[in-house]
Amino acid sequence: MRYRTIGEGTNAREVSAIALGAMKLGGTVDDETSFAILDRFVEAGGTFIDTANNYMFWEPGCSPDDSETLVGRWRADRGASSTAGLTIATKLGARPTVPGGGMESWEGLSAPAIRAAVSGSLERLQTDRLDLLYPHVEDRSVPLEETLGALADLVTEGTVGLVGASNHAAWRLERARGIAEANRWPRYRVLQLRYSYLQPRFDIPLPQMGHVHATPDHFDFLREENAAGRPTTLVTYTPLLYGAYVREDRELPDAYDHPGTPKRRAALAEVAAQTGATVNQVVLAWLIAHDPPIIPLVGVSTVEHVDEAVAAADLKLTDEQREILDNAV
Ligand SMILES: NC(=O)c1ccc[n+]([C@@H]2O[C@H](COP(=O)([O-])OP(=O)(O)OC[C@H]3O[C@@H](n4cnc5c(N)ncnc54)[C@H](OP(=O)(O)O)[C@@H]3O)[C@@H](O)[C@H]2O)c1
Repeated sequence: MRYRTIGEGTNAREVSAIALGAMKLGGTVDDETSFAILDRFVEAGGTFIDTANNYMFWEPGCSPDDSETLVGRWRADRGASSTAGLTIATKLGARPTVPGGGMESWEGLSAPAIRAAVSGSLERLQTDRLDLLYPHVEDRSVPLEETLGALADLVTEGTVGLVGASNHAAWRLERARGIAEANRWPRYRVLQLRYSYLQPRFDIPLPQMGHVHATPDHFDFLREENAAGRPTTLVTYTPLLYGAYVREDRELPDAYDHPGTPKRRAALAEVAAQTGATVNQVVLAWLIAHDPPIIPLVGVSTVEHVDEAVAAADLKLTDEQREILDNAV
């Protein structure tokens, strides 16, 4: 496993170069398998786990508590000595406030909503401190000052380690940075967006509600931030496109239906054949070596998925292989 630093100074943390998405754990994935998945990830050197306070409210038979509760139970069961050094990230803001409700009743990012959400996450995760907390989505009905001030209070009192932002437009991130800087509040140090090797057309919406794909503006922002000495890390979700790189049963959304897609698929097949790695592993290795660098956040439902993903952290592509992949457009 390789490792990356997120945050800086006294709040810096070492995390694995691959993050594990716990979205389905405790929900559509049974407890025994979920525990085995988390155990295997940690055995392989994984230290970065992602959950949210609303996974998977949209799935019949699941509750928004499922993923956090499962991760909390697993951590308590395995004990401090086995789970020390992990970074467990969670998200807030997109949880329905009405049982059985949908996004029309989401909690949002007002100061009271943030307080209430954090209290619920602490309880479910069985902890008194959240390592990394992201607003899951934007809430433009609330002034950014209110949201950032509430997050700053949580950091000051030690309830939250680092703050990040998920699914935010690049211009909102820059606005948030300015407000945080002016008030000496913690800024968003980790960004979470959708991104993989295959690129969608931006004029065709993605079918997944709320997904915000990384844009050239996000990458521009990240490079500028890091060059200015404000370390900011990019974590990207849906890196395997739900298995669509390799599985006949997974269709790519319409946004990926353009001439670049077959060229990229051919480049992946060529590099996979050269390296002996799987296509999924080449995708993950390409993301890890991306400029700016990316921590891929992989969703899994079996231990075999974990094994395939973590092995990708040790796959180093040559300059020629990167060129083959980058030039396929
Ligand atoms: N911030 C956000 O708004 C946001 C949005 C979405 C996700 N996330 C986070 O990102 C994580 C990952 O995203 P994701 O689940 O949407 O996408 P993903 O990682 O691209 O897809 C995960 C799914 O792909 C399949 N898969 C995984 N490994 C495979 C393999 N080796 N071979 C074949 N199929 C494989 C599995 O499907 P089956 O389980 O059906 O077999 C798995 O559940 C989530 O767990 C969550 O933590 C964040």
